[in-house]
Amino acid sequence: MKVTVVGAGAVGASCAEYIAIKDFASEVVLLDIKEGYAEGKAMDLMQTASLNGFDTKITGTTNDYSKTANSDICVITSGVPRKPGMTREELIGINAGIVKTVSANLIKHSPEAVFIVVSNPMDTMTYLVHKSTNLPKHKIIGMGGALDSARFKYRLAEALDAPISDVDGMVIGGHSDKGMVPLTAHATRNSIKVTEFLSEERLDQVKEDTKVGGATLTKLLGTSAWYAPGAAVSGLVQAIACDLKKMFPCSTYLEGEYDLNDLCIGVPVILGKNGIERIVEIELSDAEKAHMKESAAGVKKTNGLLDV
Ligand code: 2OP
Repeated sequence: MKVTVVGAGAVGASCAEYIAIKDFASEVVLLDIKEGYAEGKAMDLMQTASLNGFDTKITGTTNDYSKTANSDICVITSGVPRKPGMTREELIGINAGIVKTVSANLIKHSPEAVFIVVSNPMDTMTYLVHKSTNLPKHKIIGMGGALDSARFKYRLAEALDAPISDVDGMVIGGHSDKGMVPLTAHATRNSIKVTEFLSEERLDQVKEDTKVGGATLTKLLGTSAWYAPGAAVSGLVQAIACDLKKMFPCSTYLEGEYDLNDLCIGVPVILGKNGIERIVEIELSDAEKAHMKESAAGVKKTNGLLDV
């Protein structure tokens, strides 16, 4: 199992680290345009192998796509991250060109791979890969919902004063401050709806804290987060690599599901060796449907800025 991660910045390197620590891939290739950077990160990570007990071989390359040949899974994290006060949408000008070039280069060497898009604005970058390549839609996956759901669970556990392993919940919709749709009515603590334990007011606060999860960290860190994004990507990579048939909310191209068409947005999907093996349609409340529609309108507005 060979995985390529393009972009050896904080998110890409964390992603490579978590994949290696989980020890399911034989090889991870890190690629970056900055001379020697991916090689350096790969060497540093490899020097943790005996300490962390993994056998995954991590190598780095400066923009040599031939080194990525025959990858099973390609992760695109390249582009510029948010600075405090910026929205993910504001990154489109720079990141669209980068994502288009990177995906074309990767496909040349790994035409059979499953692609995971992480670069922001993620739903639009996923749509761009869909529109600018001939890849089948089940092989293009946008990572946002898995991260947003992890942040949702963190906030739910905090509100419930419960261990995170007690909590389950999902965020669908666009990966943006306004576009996220945290499904509070479906969230549970040990199979009991959290609405049994938390007031509507407290749940609204959980929802708001979840939606600005990335922005809160960007303000604290001066740049966007990397540990949770890296861990979320590694979860998707593992589900595909190990054919786990696991459910995650991911950005995928919709053709009528959830009454939405011609966009990529977060919905629950089943991930296995073929990438997205199924889109799961769940019953949403009227309020959730309205929020999803609004979220889709926001994603489409950003898609309208693309030159495809
Ligand atoms: C985040 O929300 C990087 O979009 C990513 O942290």
